[in-house]
Amino acid sequence: MHNVVLIPGDGIGKEITKSVTKILDTAGAKINWIECKAGEGANDELGTPLPEETIAAVKEHRIALKGPLTTPVGAGFRSINVALRQQFNLYSNIRPARSLPNIDSPFQGVDLVLFRENTQGLYIGKEHWVDKEETHAESIAVVTREASEKIITAAFEYAKKRGRKKITLVHKANILKLTTGLFLEIGKEIAQNYPEIEFEDLIVDNMAMQMVMRPQQFDVIVTTNLFGDILSDLASGLVGGLGVTGAANIGDDAAMFEAVHGSAPDIAGKGLANPTALLFSALMMLEYLGEDRLAEKIRSAIYTVLQEHKKECTQDIGGEGNTESYTEAICKLLRD
Ligand code: NAI
Ligand code: MG
Repeated sequence: MHNVVLIPGDGIGKEITKSVTKILDTAGAKINWIECKAGEGANDELGTPLPEETIAAVKEHRIALKGPLTTPVGAGFRSINVALRQQFNLYSNIRPARSLPNIDSPFQGVDLVLFRENTQGLYIGKEHWVDKEETHAESIAVVTREASEKIITAAFEYAKKRGRKKITLVHKANILKLTTGLFLEIGKEIAQNYPEIEFEDLIVDNMAMQMVMRPQQFDVIVTTNLFGDILSDLASGLVGGLGVTGAANIGDDAAMFEAVHGSAPDIAGKGLANPTALLFSALMMLEYLGEDRLAEKIRSAIYTVLQEHKKECTQDIGGEGNTESYTEAICKLLRD
């Protein structure tokens, strides 16, 4: 039995976590779900968006599946997603993008996995005004050897374990010579230890063009925080968008799997939410737990439903059904 902290979160979070836990339970996953609160709902109810009990549960069980959390714009609390990543040093943000059957997209045959450094770069929140009049702002980017070695090694190890052939390191070392230059140098060093894996590096602007022109050429991608944030959404867009792509945040001794889309307040409570993104995240969690065959069984059921039971699918991907009909169609295949 695996203990997993389940954070339904806000908006459509309850609906999609209910769907995902039902599908995993039906498939026979041996998971003991420990439900915890976080987000706007927790803030309203308990006066804090990230209750101590939730942190304690993640600390104890080291693995969480998390729905979307509403972050207030402007005043209010800081992003809980960022807080959780920092608290548990979840330095790898992993976002696969793989073409799906029967999903409207101009791209076919895409199968890439993007590793984004999750703790440094320009996202450390060190910004300040240079002048009193606030007409001149500065922001600091941090890249360290230690964190770069960790994320780049994680990408190579993943490629090795999963039989992936090539790593593309993305940087802007021609302009940001020290920060992304260091990242590139470390990539070249680490590549020496993996002679069986092809290594290439591309400058980020060229990368953006290449990903749109010929995304099939990419296999595993590794990059710094800001570039990874942007390119991972681009990658999602190649295969149907944020509603159908999952994500993992992995550190040395904890991992959090999450939907990349938000809490979708416009459709919350209506039973229309598409659980696919969180479901793919949950499959990454099963693989992390060593349950690869179970993950494959569920993935194959999802593909069959997309291919042969499109009517039962949610409307955002061209179906005529809702969260329940889609969930039931997958569960029915898993029971057969
Ligand atoms: P959003 O992703 O919630 O919604 C954008 C559009 O996509 C909406 O029309 C929504 O209905 C649709 N959509 C999103 N997920 C869907 C799903 N699973 N099935 C069907 N349709 C779906 O982005 P938005 O509106 O910018 O943000 C809403 C709230 O979510 C904000 O408070 C934001 O801070 C938060 N958010 C949280 C994230 C997280 O917890 N990882 C990530 C992004 C936003
Ligand atoms: Mg993003």
